[in-house]
Amino acid sequence: MQAPISPFRTVSIALAERSYAIRIGSGLLGRVDTWAGLPKATTAVVVTNTTVQPLYAAQLKTAIAGRFSRVLELALPDGEAHKDWANLQSIFDLLLAQGCDRKTLLFALGGGVVGDIAGFAAACYMRGVPFVQVPTTLLAQVDSSVGGKTAINHPLGKNMVGAFYQPLMVVADLDTLQTLPPREMSAGLAEIIKYGPIVDMVFFDWIEANLPALLARQPEALAYAVQRSCEIKAHVVGQDERESGLRAILNFGHTFGHAIEAGLGFGVWLHGEAVGCGMVMAAELSRRLGLVDATFVARLKQLISRAGLPVVGPLLGADEYLHHMRVDKKAEGGEMRFVLINAPGQAVMRSAPDALVREVIDVCCHAG
Ligand code: NAD
Ligand code: GLY
Repeated sequence: MQAPISPFRTVSIALAERSYAIRIGSGLLGRVDTWAGLPKATTAVVVTNTTVQPLYAAQLKTAIAGRFSRVLELALPDGEAHKDWANLQSIFDLLLAQGCDRKTLLFALGGGVVGDIAGFAAACYMRGVPFVQVPTTLLAQVDSSVGGKTAINHPLGKNMVGAFYQPLMVVADLDTLQTLPPREMSAGLAEIIKYGPIVDMVFFDWIEANLPALLARQPEALAYAVQRSCEIKAHVVGQDERESGLRAILNFGHTFGHAIEAGLGFGVWLHGEAVGCGMVMAAELSRRLGLVDATFVARLKQLISRAGLPVVGPLLGADEYLHHMRVDKKAEGGEMRFVLINAPGQAVMRSAPDALVREVIDVCCHAG
């Protein structure tokens, strides 16, 4: 007898007793078998936001209803500004008011904002309750839902209060991407493109060839892009879960990108937009350090631009950029550390002279 065809592709993330599966496919949210293997519990709590709730919460709740005595729901306000103490508290308020015990299972249904705050709530509530990531943005499916980084923002810094806390499972339903605004699709593409220069130029070639299909949201193209991104991320995180070294390469473009986000005020540029432009700046810094040539920088810049992302940084002034880059979590003793491209497909962590960083900012940033 033939084995039944699985409705999803699975990528595994190997972290000993914290290992888990990433399930990727179409129509997964509403299928009962998607959720097979999750532990039995009295209560499930779906944490989502006011945009995603009307689109997808009912499907998920119906599919998991048979596994729990009750399924509660909490819709947070939408936006990065709400990844904060007040909304973290509102999750704890619900859990306590409803008498949720330490077996309660949290489902983070939404983009990276919901995933980060619900994951952090799961890490803290009763010193840790299990949770499942159900990412509904491209960025969350290829990056933020995988690897266990959870956090909220502090007024003095983004993602500055958080924990490493792995989900029990990640379910990436590709159908949810059909309702994503185009700007959010492009932001997710930035995090997909990122994996090429740091690890896998064959994947980069594939993205170049398949970008029109990705922008058109063709399911097969999306499935491969999400799968390959998750495989690369799982491989890196499997070697360095808590970012004592290698994992930092996943932050390619993020040091300049962080400065753009912070300098403009969070939310003006999307995270993925800032990362896209930040990759151009980090590649240019790599070139000025003699690591890669101008052809590589131009190729990367062209792909980022084709993905609908900005490739010219905002004119904040070099002092402002440097100020924000020094607050980055990769900085050590106030010295900036950059993820640079040593050769196409190979990343390296390095510091760089301030003068060279200033040159890059001057060349890559213009009044918009
Ligand atoms: P987001 O969560 O704000 O989602 C973007 C927008 O899309 C929101 O308005 C959201 O409501 C909406 N949305 C979500 N799914 C939708 C759907 N299917 N259809 C229509 N609209 C939908 O942003 P994001 O880009 O997903 O995530 C960014 C966040 O992720 C940032 O806070 C960033 O710090 C964090 N992040 C975390 C990690 C990590 O490893 N934990 C990695 C990268 C980014
Ligand atoms: N997004 C970078 C990381 O998860 O390490």
